[in-house]
Amino acid sequence: MIRSATPADFDAIAAIAAVYGFDEPDSGVDVAYLHLVMRTGRLAVAEVRTEVGPVVVGFGGTVDSFGAAMVTDLFVLEQFHGRGLGGRLLQHLVGDRSQRMTFSSNHPAALPTYQRLGMQPRWRLRYLRGGIRHLQHRVDVVEVVDVSPEMWAGSRRELAHHWRRRDARLLHIGDALDPTGTAIVTHDDRSWTLQRMETRGDHATAMASVMAALPERDALTTFVPAWSHAATLLDDLDFEELDHDVCCTTADVVIPSTAVVLHPALA
Ligand SMILES: CC(C)(COP(=O)(O)OP(=O)(O)OC[C@H]1O[C@@H](n2cnc3c(N)ncnc32)[C@H](O)[C@@H]1OP(=O)(O)O)[C@@H](O)C(=O)NCCC(=O)NCCS
Repeated sequence: MIRSATPADFDAIAAIAAVYGFDEPDSGVDVAYLHLVMRTGRLAVAEVRTEVGPVVVGFGGTVDSFGAAMVTDLFVLEQFHGRGLGGRLLQHLVGDRSQRMTFSSNHPAALPTYQRLGMQPRWRLRYLRGGIRHLQHRVDVVEVVDVSPEMWAGSRRELAHHWRRRDARLLHIGDALDPTGTAIVTHDDRSWTLQRMETRGDHATAMASVMAALPERDALTTFVPAWSHAATLLDDLDFEELDHDVCCTTADVVIPSTAVVLHPALA
């Protein structure tokens, strides 16, 4: 049976996420993340009957992004694969929303499951990691200003609130009164994660600007569409590709060219 999740399911959801190695913030093990998905989208579980009663064996979520139902998670325990649970979870989550998208993992069953519901592969979202460099020549016209969620000029204010609770820095790039871009950066000691960035300017300049606001030589991890000039810049700086997902959307979803960094789960 597929049903909406409640906080009573969070332990079971965390156990399933952990089986697949998702034990970081902004995954199924993170209660704040699960509340965000439940509050701003849908969170559902797949449950099977056993001798000891119903057991949760899968979960999935969606949030709203770019006018589409964005699939944040879709996991079924391996011993229950191939019984239609993943497909039914996905159907329950997207409901009658015709615009759908996700960042698909490389698991062999993931892409076919999304394709069955009309989402076609578009481009790679690359996970890149490397040392922060200050490239003064690229940022001479740009000023980076830390802002509060109330001053947030980007889309998805709920994400600014979510990450701000984790001590994020919210940055306006460019003139504070008329910013050309916005970025959200979290950190753990000397390791920074650029979670999301939009700009109406040049992507590489925006990436260089955010790096200029962070300590040189600290580590930076980020998630960049393969077509973005920001990816070219980070390749030039010898950033390592840790992994990638495949952006899958229905034909009517437009991801604007202002998107420089998109979070793999929350977009
Ligand atoms: C993706 C996943 C949720 C599918 O769950 P599931 O319950 O096995 O899915 P279903 O039984 O509904 O099958 C859905 C489709 O997946 C495909 N599929 C299932 N198992 C497959 C396999 N081993 N190889 C290739 N395709 C497979 C089939 O196309 C199937 O459609 P069909 O029934 O018309 O043949 C599950 O495999 C999973 O948890 N994978 C690991 C976690 C993961 O990577 N999730 C995706 C995150 S983006």
